[in-house]
Amino acid sequence: MKIPLLLTTPLFLLFSLVQGYNNPNCDTQDHGSTLQVFHVFSPCSPFKPTKALSWEESVLQLQAKDQLRMQYLSSLVAGRSVVPIASGRQIIQNPTYIVRARFGTPSQTLLLAMDTSNDAAWVPCTGCVGCSPITPFAPAKSITFRNLGCGAPQCKQVPNPTCSGSACSFNLTYGSSTVAANLVQDRLTLATDPIPGYTFGCIQQTTGSSVPAQGLLGLGRGPLSLLAQTQNLYQSTFSYCLPSFKTLNFTGSLRLGPVQPNKLRFTPLLKNPRRSSLYYVNLVAIKVGRKIVDIPPAALALNPTTGAGTIFDSGTVFTRLVQPAYIAVRNEFRRRVGRKVTVTSLGGFDTCYTVPIVAPTITLMFSGLNVTLPQDNILIHSTVGSTTCLALAAAPDNVNSVLNVIANMQQQNHRVLFDVPNSRLGVAREVCT
Ligand SMILES: *[C@@H]1O[C@H](CO)[C@@H](O)[C@H](O)[C@H]1NC(C)=O
Ligand SMILES: *[C@@H]1O[C@H](CO)[C@@H](O)[C@H](O)[C@H]1NC(C)=O
Ligand SMILES: *[C@@H]1O[C@H](CO)[C@@H](O)[C@H](O)[C@H]1NC(C)=O
Repeated sequence: MKIPLLLTTPLFLLFSLVQGYNNPNCDTQDHGSTLQVFHVFSPCSPFKPTKALSWEESVLQLQAKDQLRMQYLSSLVAGRSVVPIASGRQIIQNPTYIVRARFGTPSQTLLLAMDTSNDAAWVPCTGCVGCSPITPFAPAKSITFRNLGCGAPQCKQVPNPTCSGSACSFNLTYGSSTVAANLVQDRLTLATDPIPGYTFGCIQQTTGSSVPAQGLLGLGRGPLSLLAQTQNLYQSTFSYCLPSFKTLNFTGSLRLGPVQPNKLRFTPLLKNPRRSSLYYVNLVAIKVGRKIVDIPPAALALNPTTGAGTIFDSGTVFTRLVQPAYIAVRNEFRRRVGRKVTVTSLGGFDTCYTVPIVAPTITLMFSGLNVTLPQDNILIHSTVGSTTCLALAAAPDNVNSVLNVIANMQQQNHRVLFDVPNSRLGVAREVCT
Protein backbone atom coordinates (compact mmCIF):
# COMPACT_ATOMS: atom_id res chain seq x y z
CA MET A 1 0.00 0.00 0.00
CA LYS A 2 1.19 3.46 -0.84
CA ILE A 3 1.75 5.76 2.12
CA PRO A 4 0.78 9.19 0.89
CA LEU A 5 2.93 12.26 1.19
CA LEU A 6 4.89 11.12 4.23
CA LEU A 7 7.66 13.58 3.82
CA THR A 8 5.74 16.68 2.89
CA THR A 9 3.40 16.82 5.87
CA PRO A 10 5.33 15.33 8.77
CA LEU A 11 3.17 16.68 11.57
CA PHE A 12 0.02 14.82 10.82
CA LEU A 13 1.05 11.89 8.73
CA LEU A 14 3.84 10.24 10.67
CA PHE A 15 1.92 7.67 12.56
CA SER A 16 3.13 5.68 15.47
CA LEU A 17 0.81 2.77 15.04
CA VAL A 18 -1.43 2.00 18.00
CA GLN A 19 1.34 3.02 20.37
CA GLY A 20 -1.26 4.83 22.47
CA TYR A 21 -2.93 1.56 23.36
CA ASN A 22 0.09 0.57 25.44
CA ASN A 23 -0.37 3.58 27.69
CA PRO A 24 -2.51 2.63 30.72
CA ASN A 25 -4.15 6.09 30.70
CA CYS A 26 -5.58 5.31 27.29
CA ASP A 27 -7.37 2.08 28.16
CA THR A 28 -10.18 3.51 30.23
CA GLN A 29 -13.48 2.53 28.74
CA ASP A 30 -16.25 4.80 27.59
CA HIS A 31 -19.38 4.34 29.65
CA GLY A 32 -23.05 5.24 29.47
CA SER A 33 -23.53 7.63 26.57
CA THR A 34 -20.27 9.47 27.24
CA LEU A 35 -17.24 9.13 25.01
CA GLN A 36 -13.76 10.24 25.87
CA VAL A 37 -12.42 12.97 23.62
CA PHE A 38 -8.71 12.91 22.86
CA HIS A 39 -6.64 15.68 21.42
CA VAL A 40 -5.03 14.44 18.26
CA PHE A 41 -1.59 15.13 19.80
CA SER A 42 -2.44 13.26 23.01
CA PRO A 43 -0.24 10.32 24.08
CA CYS A 44 -3.33 8.14 23.49
CA SER A 45 -3.66 9.22 19.88
CA PRO A 46 -2.07 7.10 17.18
CA PHE A 47 -2.06 10.26 15.08
CA LYS A 48 0.27 12.26 17.30
CA PRO A 49 3.50 13.48 15.74
CA THR A 50 6.42 11.16 16.34
CA LYS A 51 8.87 14.01 16.35
CA ALA A 52 8.45 16.73 18.92
CA LEU A 53 7.83 20.07 17.28
CA SER A 54 9.04 23.38 18.59
CA TRP A 55 6.38 25.69 19.95
CA GLU A 56 6.60 27.92 16.92
CA GLU A 57 6.38 24.99 14.54
CA SER A 58 3.23 23.69 16.21
CA VAL A 59 1.58 27.08 16.26
CA LEU A 60 2.36 27.67 12.61
CA GLN A 61 1.13 24.19 11.68
CA LEU A 62 -2.12 24.66 13.55
CA GLN A 63 -2.63 28.02 11.89
CA ALA A 64 -1.99 26.62 8.44
CA LYS A 65 -4.57 23.97 9.16
CA ASP A 66 -7.06 26.62 10.30
CA GLN A 67 -6.60 28.46 7.03
CA LEU A 68 -7.87 25.39 5.18
CA ARG A 69 -10.63 24.95 7.68
CA MET A 70 -11.80 28.53 7.12
CA GLN A 71 -11.80 27.93 3.37
CA TYR A 72 -13.89 24.87 3.94
CA LEU A 73 -16.38 26.65 6.20
CA SER A 74 -16.61 29.56 3.76
CA SER A 75 -17.33 27.17 0.93
CA LEU A 76 -20.13 25.62 2.96
CA VAL A 77 -21.70 28.99 3.51
CA ALA A 78 -21.26 30.03 -0.10
CA GLY A 79 -22.58 26.74 -1.46
CA ARG A 80 -26.09 26.66 -2.80
CA SER A 81 -27.25 23.19 -2.01
CA VAL A 82 -27.31 21.31 1.22
CA VAL A 83 -25.34 18.17 0.57
CA PRO A 84 -26.17 15.49 3.09
CA ILE A 85 -23.74 12.74 3.96
CA ALA A 86 -20.44 14.42 3.26
CA SER A 87 -20.76 18.04 2.74
CA GLY A 88 -18.87 20.43 0.60
CA ARG A 89 -15.94 20.51 -1.71
CA GLN A 90 -13.34 21.74 0.72
CA ILE A 91 -12.84 20.08 4.00
CA ILE A 92 -10.64 20.02 7.06
CA GLN A 93 -7.17 18.68 6.54
CA ASN A 94 -6.95 16.83 9.79
CA PRO A 95 -8.87 16.48 13.01
CA THR A 96 -8.13 18.25 16.27
CA TYR A 97 -10.21 16.01 18.50
CA ILE A 98 -10.95 12.32 18.13
CA VAL A 99 -13.36 9.86 19.72
CA ARG A 100 -13.58 6.08 19.80
CA ALA A 101 -16.40 4.36 17.96
CA ARG A 102 -17.03 0.68 17.41
CA PHE A 103 -18.42 -0.61 14.15
CA GLY A 104 -19.85 -4.04 13.31
CA THR A 105 -20.45 -7.33 15.14
CA PRO A 106 -18.12 -8.28 16.75
CA SER A 107 -17.10 -4.67 17.02
CA GLN A 108 -14.01 -3.05 15.53
CA THR A 109 -12.70 0.10 17.18
CA LEU A 110 -11.94 3.16 15.09
CA LEU A 111 -10.84 6.64 16.16
CA LEU A 112 -13.01 9.15 14.37
CA ALA A 113 -12.46 12.85 13.93
CA MET A 114 -15.17 14.83 15.70
CA ASP A 115 -16.61 17.67 13.67
CA THR A 116 -19.64 19.76 14.57
CA SER A 117 -19.74 21.49 11.18
CA ASN A 118 -20.18 18.35 9.17
CA ASP A 119 -22.87 15.73 8.68
CA ALA A 120 -20.47 13.20 7.20
CA ALA A 121 -20.22 9.68 8.48
CA TRP A 122 -17.67 7.58 6.73
CA VAL A 123 -14.78 5.25 7.47
CA PRO A 124 -12.08 3.63 5.36
CA CYS A 125 -12.86 -0.01 4.57
CA THR A 126 -10.63 -3.02 3.90
CA GLY A 127 -8.88 -2.83 0.59
CA CYS A 128 -9.31 0.92 0.36
CA VAL A 129 -6.83 2.20 -2.18
CA GLY A 130 -4.96 5.27 -0.96
CA CYS A 131 -6.29 5.28 2.61
CA SER A 132 -4.05 5.65 5.69
CA PRO A 133 -2.22 2.48 6.72
CA ILE A 134 -3.93 2.58 10.10
CA THR A 135 -6.30 -0.40 10.41
CA PRO A 136 -9.47 0.22 8.40
CA PHE A 137 -12.91 -1.25 9.04
CA ALA A 138 -13.23 -4.85 7.81
CA PRO A 139 -16.82 -5.44 6.62
CA ALA A 140 -16.12 -9.13 5.97
CA LYS A 141 -15.53 -9.67 9.69
CA SER A 142 -18.89 -8.23 10.69
CA ILE A 143 -22.01 -10.39 10.61
CA THR A 144 -24.30 -7.34 10.73
CA PHE A 145 -22.79 -5.50 7.78
CA ARG A 146 -24.79 -4.86 4.64
CA ASN A 147 -24.46 -2.82 1.48
CA LEU A 148 -27.30 -0.50 0.66
CA GLY A 149 -28.76 -0.94 -2.78
CA CYS A 150 -29.52 1.79 -5.26
CA GLY A 151 -33.18 1.51 -4.43
CA ALA A 152 -32.67 2.26 -0.72
CA PRO A 153 -34.24 5.57 0.36
CA GLN A 154 -30.94 6.63 1.97
CA CYS A 155 -29.27 6.43 -1.44
CA LYS A 156 -31.34 9.43 -2.54
CA GLN A 157 -29.77 11.53 0.23
CA VAL A 158 -26.14 11.18 -0.84
CA PRO A 159 -24.58 13.49 -3.42
CA ASN A 160 -24.57 12.13 -6.98
CA PRO A 161 -25.09 8.46 -6.17
CA THR A 162 -24.12 5.92 -8.81
CA CYS A 163 -24.93 2.25 -9.08
CA SER A 164 -21.99 -0.11 -9.30
CA GLY A 165 -23.54 -3.54 -9.52
CA SER A 166 -26.49 -3.11 -7.22
CA ALA A 167 -24.59 -1.11 -4.55
CA CYS A 168 -25.24 2.56 -3.92
CA SER A 169 -21.94 4.40 -4.25
CA PHE A 170 -20.84 7.98 -4.43
CA ASN A 171 -17.78 10.07 -5.18
CA LEU A 172 -16.86 13.33 -3.59
CA THR A 173 -13.97 15.72 -3.32
CA TYR A 174 -12.67 16.38 0.14
CA GLY A 175 -10.08 19.14 0.41
CA SER A 176 -7.23 17.96 -1.73
CA SER A 177 -8.68 14.45 -1.71
CA THR A 178 -11.19 12.54 -3.73
CA VAL A 179 -13.22 9.85 -2.04
CA ALA A 180 -15.13 6.97 -3.59
CA ALA A 181 -17.37 5.13 -1.12
CA ASN A 182 -20.26 2.70 -0.91
CA LEU A 183 -23.27 3.48 1.17
CA VAL A 184 -23.53 0.76 3.80
CA GLN A 185 -25.18 -0.12 7.09
CA ASP A 186 -23.84 -1.75 10.19
CA ARG A 187 -24.17 -1.67 13.89
CA LEU A 188 -22.41 1.29 15.49
CA THR A 189 -21.62 1.31 19.19
CA LEU A 190 -20.90 4.64 20.87
CA ALA A 191 -19.76 4.21 24.47
CA THR A 192 -22.25 1.51 25.57
CA ASP A 193 -25.07 2.52 23.22
CA PRO A 194 -25.76 0.15 20.33
CA ILE A 195 -27.07 1.82 17.18
CA PRO A 196 -28.22 -0.95 14.86
CA GLY A 197 -28.42 -0.34 11.13
CA TYR A 198 -26.38 2.83 11.12
CA THR A 199 -25.94 4.23 7.59
CA PHE A 200 -22.49 5.46 6.61
CA GLY A 201 -19.99 5.60 3.78
CA CYS A 202 -17.47 2.77 3.41
CA ILE A 203 -14.48 4.28 1.62
CA GLN A 204 -13.08 2.22 -1.25
CA GLN A 205 -10.62 4.65 -2.71
CA THR A 206 -9.07 8.02 -1.95
CA THR A 207 -6.42 10.24 -3.41
CA GLY A 208 -4.61 12.97 -1.51
CA SER A 209 -4.08 13.27 2.22
CA SER A 210 -7.11 15.13 3.56
CA VAL A 211 -9.16 12.20 4.73
CA PRO A 212 -9.01 11.57 8.51
CA ALA A 213 -7.13 8.30 9.01
CA GLN A 214 -10.01 6.37 10.54
CA GLY A 215 -12.99 8.37 9.41
CA LEU A 216 -15.22 11.21 10.46
CA LEU A 217 -17.97 11.56 13.04
CA GLY A 218 -20.00 14.53 11.89
CA LEU A 219 -22.13 16.10 14.61
CA GLY A 220 -23.98 18.42 12.24
CA ARG A 221 -27.75 18.24 12.09
CA GLY A 222 -28.51 17.52 8.42
CA PRO A 223 -30.22 14.45 6.93
CA LEU A 224 -28.31 11.15 7.39
CA SER A 225 -26.17 12.75 10.12
CA LEU A 226 -25.59 10.94 13.40
CA LEU A 227 -28.17 13.22 15.03
CA ALA A 228 -30.74 12.46 12.35
CA GLN A 229 -30.15 8.72 12.69
CA THR A 230 -30.32 8.61 16.47
CA GLN A 231 -33.38 10.81 17.05
CA ASN A 232 -34.99 8.39 19.49
CA LEU A 233 -31.82 7.70 21.42
CA TYR A 234 -30.12 11.09 21.65
CA GLN A 235 -32.88 13.51 20.67
CA SER A 236 -30.43 15.73 18.79
CA THR A 237 -28.70 16.74 21.99
CA PHE A 238 -25.03 16.47 22.87
CA SER A 239 -22.36 18.33 24.77
CA TYR A 240 -18.62 18.22 24.93
CA CYS A 241 -15.74 19.42 27.04
CA LEU A 242 -12.58 19.85 24.98
CA PRO A 243 -9.30 19.30 26.81
CA SER A 244 -6.63 21.93 26.50
CA PHE A 245 -3.81 21.05 24.19
CA LYS A 246 -1.40 22.24 26.86
CA THR A 247 -2.37 19.27 28.99
CA LEU A 248 -2.20 16.55 26.44
CA ASN A 249 -2.67 13.76 28.95
CA PHE A 250 -6.14 15.04 29.69
CA THR A 251 -9.13 13.66 27.92
CA GLY A 252 -12.38 15.50 27.49
CA SER A 253 -15.81 14.06 26.97
CA LEU A 254 -18.57 13.92 24.42
CA ARG A 255 -21.86 13.31 26.14
CA LEU A 256 -24.67 12.21 23.87
CA GLY A 257 -28.38 12.50 24.60
CA PRO A 258 -30.78 14.56 26.67
CA VAL A 259 -29.26 13.75 30.09
CA GLN A 260 -26.92 16.70 30.50
CA PRO A 261 -25.37 18.79 33.27
CA ASN A 262 -27.81 21.43 34.44
CA LYS A 263 -25.64 24.35 35.48
CA LEU A 264 -25.36 25.85 32.04
CA ARG A 265 -26.38 29.25 30.78
CA PHE A 266 -27.92 29.48 27.34
CA THR A 267 -28.11 31.47 24.16
CA PRO A 268 -30.50 30.69 21.30
CA LEU A 269 -29.19 28.36 18.61
CA LEU A 270 -29.90 29.79 15.19
CA LYS A 271 -30.24 28.11 11.85
CA ASN A 272 -29.05 29.62 8.64
CA PRO A 273 -31.02 28.27 5.68
CA ARG A 274 -27.92 28.58 3.55
CA ARG A 275 -26.11 26.07 5.65
CA SER A 276 -28.48 24.28 7.94
CA SER A 277 -25.98 21.96 9.59
CA LEU A 278 -23.80 24.72 11.07
CA TYR A 279 -24.48 25.85 14.63
CA TYR A 280 -25.08 29.58 14.49
CA VAL A 281 -25.52 31.78 17.54
CA ASN A 282 -26.17 35.47 18.00
CA LEU A 283 -22.92 37.18 19.01
CA VAL A 284 -24.02 40.72 19.83
CA ALA A 285 -20.87 42.35 21.16
CA ILE A 286 -17.37 41.75 22.50
CA LYS A 287 -15.96 43.25 25.65
CA VAL A 288 -12.24 43.78 26.22
CA GLY A 289 -11.62 44.50 29.88
CA ARG A 290 -14.72 46.47 30.81
CA LYS A 291 -15.12 48.16 27.46
CA ILE A 292 -17.55 47.01 24.81
CA VAL A 293 -15.58 47.54 21.62
CA ASP A 294 -17.02 49.30 18.65
CA ILE A 295 -17.99 46.72 16.03
CA PRO A 296 -20.38 47.45 13.15
CA PRO A 297 -23.48 45.30 13.87
CA ALA A 298 -23.36 43.83 10.36
CA ALA A 299 -19.99 42.24 11.18
CA LEU A 300 -21.67 40.03 13.77
CA ALA A 301 -25.27 39.60 12.62
CA LEU A 302 -26.77 36.53 11.06
CA ASN A 303 -27.53 37.17 7.41
CA PRO A 304 -29.47 34.37 5.71
CA THR A 305 -28.66 35.75 2.27
CA THR A 306 -24.88 35.75 2.58
CA GLY A 307 -24.53 33.10 5.28
CA ALA A 308 -22.80 35.65 7.53
CA GLY A 309 -22.96 35.23 11.27
CA THR A 310 -21.21 33.46 14.11
CA ILE A 311 -20.84 29.72 14.55
CA PHE A 312 -19.44 27.41 17.20
CA ASP A 313 -17.07 24.94 15.58
CA SER A 314 -15.08 22.08 17.08
CA GLY A 315 -12.68 21.76 14.16
CA THR A 316 -11.11 25.24 13.92
CA VAL A 317 -8.36 25.84 16.48
CA PHE A 318 -8.16 29.64 16.85
CA THR A 319 -11.23 31.89 16.83
CA ARG A 320 -11.58 33.98 13.70
CA LEU A 321 -13.48 37.23 13.56
CA VAL A 322 -14.32 39.14 10.40
CA GLN A 323 -11.90 42.03 9.83
CA PRO A 324 -13.74 44.96 11.47
CA ALA A 325 -14.55 42.89 14.56
CA TYR A 326 -11.05 41.54 14.91
CA ILE A 327 -9.42 44.95 14.44
CA ALA A 328 -11.64 46.49 17.11
CA VAL A 329 -10.86 43.73 19.62
CA ARG A 330 -7.17 43.70 18.86
CA ASN A 331 -6.78 47.46 19.07
CA GLU A 332 -8.44 47.63 22.46
CA PHE A 333 -6.40 44.64 23.65
CA ARG A 334 -3.18 46.36 22.60
CA ARG A 335 -4.28 49.61 24.20
CA ARG A 336 -4.94 47.83 27.48
CA VAL A 337 -1.61 45.99 27.43
CA GLY A 338 0.04 49.35 27.03
CA ARG A 339 1.36 51.48 24.25
CA LYS A 340 4.95 51.26 25.45
CA VAL A 341 5.11 47.50 24.98
CA THR A 342 6.38 46.43 21.56
CA VAL A 343 4.00 44.34 19.50
CA THR A 344 5.42 41.62 17.28
CA SER A 345 3.83 38.98 15.12
CA LEU A 346 4.06 35.26 14.65
CA GLY A 347 2.61 33.67 11.54
CA GLY A 348 -0.99 34.85 11.34
CA PHE A 349 -1.00 36.28 14.87
CA ASP A 350 -0.35 40.00 14.80
CA THR A 351 -0.49 40.73 18.53
CA CYS A 352 2.45 39.04 20.20
CA TYR A 353 4.77 40.20 22.95
CA THR A 354 8.23 39.10 23.96
CA VAL A 355 7.98 40.53 27.46
CA PRO A 356 5.54 39.44 30.16
CA ILE A 357 2.20 41.28 29.87
CA VAL A 358 -0.92 41.81 31.91
CA ALA A 359 -3.73 40.95 29.53
CA PRO A 360 -7.28 42.26 29.79
CA THR A 361 -10.16 39.80 29.86
CA ILE A 362 -12.21 39.16 26.76
CA THR A 363 -15.96 38.56 27.04
CA LEU A 364 -18.03 37.20 24.21
CA MET A 365 -21.53 38.62 24.60
CA PHE A 366 -24.18 36.41 23.08
CA SER A 367 -27.95 36.95 23.35
CA GLY A 368 -28.65 36.20 27.00
CA LEU A 369 -25.18 34.81 27.70
CA ASN A 370 -21.84 36.44 28.47
CA VAL A 371 -18.78 34.20 28.29
CA THR A 372 -15.64 35.65 29.85
CA LEU A 373 -12.75 33.62 28.56
CA PRO A 374 -10.06 32.42 30.97
CA GLN A 375 -6.57 33.71 30.16
CA ASP A 376 -5.53 30.24 29.02
CA ASN A 377 -8.15 30.45 26.30
CA ILE A 378 -7.02 33.76 24.84
CA LEU A 379 -3.24 33.67 25.15
CA ILE A 380 -0.74 31.21 23.83
CA HIS A 381 2.63 31.15 25.51
CA SER A 382 5.83 29.78 24.17
CA THR A 383 7.13 27.15 26.57
CA VAL A 384 10.70 28.10 25.83
CA GLY A 385 11.53 31.73 25.13
CA SER A 386 8.95 34.20 26.23
CA THR A 387 6.60 34.94 23.38
CA THR A 388 2.92 35.42 24.20
CA CYS A 389 0.31 35.91 21.48
CA LEU A 390 -3.33 36.87 21.47
CA ALA A 391 -4.82 33.63 20.12
CA LEU A 392 -7.43 35.19 17.87
CA ALA A 393 -7.13 36.18 14.25
CA ALA A 394 -8.96 37.94 11.50
CA ALA A 395 -10.90 35.77 9.07
CA PRO A 396 -8.83 35.35 5.91
CA ASP A 397 -9.98 37.94 3.40
CA ASN A 398 -8.94 35.94 0.35
CA VAL A 399 -11.74 33.42 0.80
CA ASN A 400 -14.50 36.00 1.07
CA SER A 401 -15.21 34.87 4.58
CA VAL A 402 -18.26 36.28 6.28
CA LEU A 403 -18.17 33.93 9.24
CA ASN A 404 -17.05 34.48 12.79
CA VAL A 405 -15.93 31.13 14.11
CA ILE A 406 -15.75 30.44 17.86
CA ALA A 407 -13.01 27.86 17.74
CA ASN A 408 -11.85 25.03 19.96
CA MET A 409 -9.06 26.81 21.83
CA GLN A 410 -11.57 29.36 23.08
CA GLN A 411 -13.98 26.55 24.04
CA GLN A 412 -11.42 24.50 25.95
CA ASN A 413 -12.31 23.66 29.52
CA HIS A 414 -15.95 24.60 29.00
CA ARG A 415 -18.96 22.36 28.71
CA VAL A 416 -20.71 23.32 25.47
CA LEU A 417 -24.20 21.91 24.99
CA PHE A 418 -25.95 21.70 21.63
CA ASP A 419 -29.65 21.37 22.34
CA VAL A 420 -31.29 21.26 18.93
CA PRO A 421 -34.91 20.49 19.98
CA ASN A 422 -34.93 23.51 22.29
CA SER A 423 -32.86 25.59 19.85
CA ARG A 424 -30.30 26.60 22.42
CA LEU A 425 -26.60 26.38 23.05
CA GLY A 426 -25.37 26.18 26.63
CA VAL A 427 -21.98 27.03 28.10
CA ALA A 428 -20.43 26.47 31.53
CA ARG A 429 -16.87 26.45 32.80
CA GLU A 430 -15.64 22.92 33.44
CA VAL A 431 -12.17 21.47 33.79
CA CYS A 432 -12.06 18.58 31.35
CA THR A 433 -10.43 15.55 32.81
C1 LIG B 1 -15.83 7.32 -8.82
O1 LIG B 1 -14.48 7.06 -8.48
C2 LIG B 1 -14.03 5.78 -8.91
C3 LIG B 1 -12.64 5.58 -8.35
O2 LIG B 1 -11.82 6.68 -8.57
C4 LIG B 1 -14.05 5.74 -10.44
O3 LIG B 1 -13.65 4.46 -10.89
C5 LIG B 1 -15.49 6.00 -10.92
O4 LIG B 1 -15.53 6.08 -12.34
C6 LIG B 1 -16.02 7.30 -10.31
N1 LIG B 1 -17.42 7.43 -10.63
C7 LIG B 1 -17.95 8.56 -11.08
C8 LIG B 1 -19.43 8.56 -11.34
O5 LIG B 1 -17.29 9.59 -11.25
C1 LIG C 1 1.52 11.74 30.46
O1 LIG C 1 1.35 10.44 30.97
C2 LIG C 1 2.51 9.62 30.82
C3 LIG C 1 2.16 8.20 31.23
O2 LIG C 1 1.39 8.16 32.39
C4 LIG C 1 3.65 10.23 31.64
O3 LIG C 1 4.81 9.46 31.51
C5 LIG C 1 3.91 11.64 31.14
O4 LIG C 1 4.89 12.27 31.91
C6 LIG C 1 2.66 12.47 31.16
N1 LIG C 1 2.88 13.75 30.46
C7 LIG C 1 2.46 14.90 30.91
C8 LIG C 1 2.78 16.09 30.10
O5 LIG C 1 1.82 15.01 31.95
C1 LIG D 1 -23.73 40.76 29.86
O1 LIG D 1 -22.91 41.87 30.13
C2 LIG D 1 -23.54 43.12 29.87
C3 LIG D 1 -22.50 44.23 29.99
O2 LIG D 1 -21.62 44.00 31.04
C4 LIG D 1 -24.69 43.30 30.83
O3 LIG D 1 -25.34 44.51 30.60
C5 LIG D 1 -25.67 42.15 30.60
O4 LIG D 1 -26.72 42.20 31.52
C6 LIG D 1 -24.97 40.82 30.73
N1 LIG D 1 -25.89 39.79 30.29
C7 LIG D 1 -26.12 38.68 30.99
C8 LIG D 1 -27.11 37.73 30.44
O5 LIG D 1 -25.54 38.45 32.06
